[in-house]
Amino acid sequence: MPPKNIQTPTHQIYPDSCYGLEKLADASVDALITDPPYGIAYQNHEWDKALPQPQIWEDGLRVLKSGAFGLVFSSVRLMHRLMVNLEDSGFLIKDVLFWAYLNGMPKSRAVALGIDKELGIKSEVIGKYNYVQGYQKGGAENYSPQKEKPKYAPSSELAQQYAGAGLGIKPAYEPIILVQKPIEKGLNVAQNIIKYGTGALNLEQTRIPYAKGEGKVGHNPHPEGRVAANILRTEAFEDGYDKFFLIPKVRQHAEDFNHHPTLKPVALMQHLVKLISFENQTVLDPFMGSGSTGVAALALQRSFVGYELDEAYFKIAQKRLDPKREA
Ligand SMILES: C[S@@+](CC[C@H](N)C(=O)[O-])C[C@H]1O[C@@H](n2cnc3c(N)ncnc32)[C@H](O)[C@@H]1O
Repeated sequence: MPPKNIQTPTHQIYPDSCYGLEKLADASVDALITDPPYGIAYQNHEWDKALPQPQIWEDGLRVLKSGAFGLVFSSVRLMHRLMVNLEDSGFLIKDVLFWAYLNGMPKSRAVALGIDKELGIKSEVIGKYNYVQGYQKGGAENYSPQKEKPKYAPSSELAQQYAGAGLGIKPAYEPIILVQKPIEKGLNVAQNIIKYGTGALNLEQTRIPYAKGEGKVGHNPHPEGRVAANILRTEAFEDGYDKFFLIPKVRQHAEDFNHHPTLKPVALMQHLVKLISFENQTVLDPFMGSGSTGVAALALQRSFVGYELDEAYFKIAQKRLDPKREA
């Protein structure tokens, strides 16, 4: 059935810092979806060296309508700080979605070889390996070329006891914090929706279809599947247990002109857009990067407002959001 009152979705994007959200009026936005800097210096990028200043969450609260929801991506390491910042700015913390994937790389170090070095004992050379990392200033665009390096095994007795010991486990999920602007005093949810159109999750559009061959579950199974869960994952784990939204991690350079290093899959962003907004509403992403939230929003009949400070990333977003562009 076609949606009622179809309006053409619009997008407004700004090559500016988001702080202040000056172009936006109070209570003018229906949903906030953003993948901000994580504060972990990912691939040594300058823009990822610190978490956003809390001011942006106060700005977000100002421009959102009463009861509107937000989804904010985070690193695992700094999720607690980000959540405190969001809460201190006035948001209610409603949930944390876990986007689980299998292809994360641990950030680690061979501790045993460090012990040999500290003891002044030479580790044993046992072969060669391909060295592929080495991010330099300016980020991963400045890769050191891949080269062969000697492979070592620990020599001292103490180092051998710590053979294989490291400093990090494999990262296999990214948290996405679900927040809500408190509903205006004196209104209940229904009254808030009537007045502002916000205040509820769009569960109907985000149902997870039953797995092939799976019998319907519950006493009153819904024909479209289960209600969306707070786990999203990238791969079927072949456990026959596909209760979660499934979305593969995006390949870097999936579109050849898009070199954004932390590109998010459009299908994932579509799931999130559907979850916290309804057709003909407006979604804001203050840290839009190459514009994945916007691409998802426009495809789903939502309007989009985005900010991006970096000129090169802004141009990529501009190109991806251009309505004249071939899909
Ligand atoms: C994690 S990336 C977003 C990537 C995006 N999800 C995508 O799929 O392309 C965060 C972005 O925030 C931008 N940024 C950092 N500080 C900003 C600011 N004050 N205002 C606007 N953008 C900012 C960075 O340049 C970076 O592109």
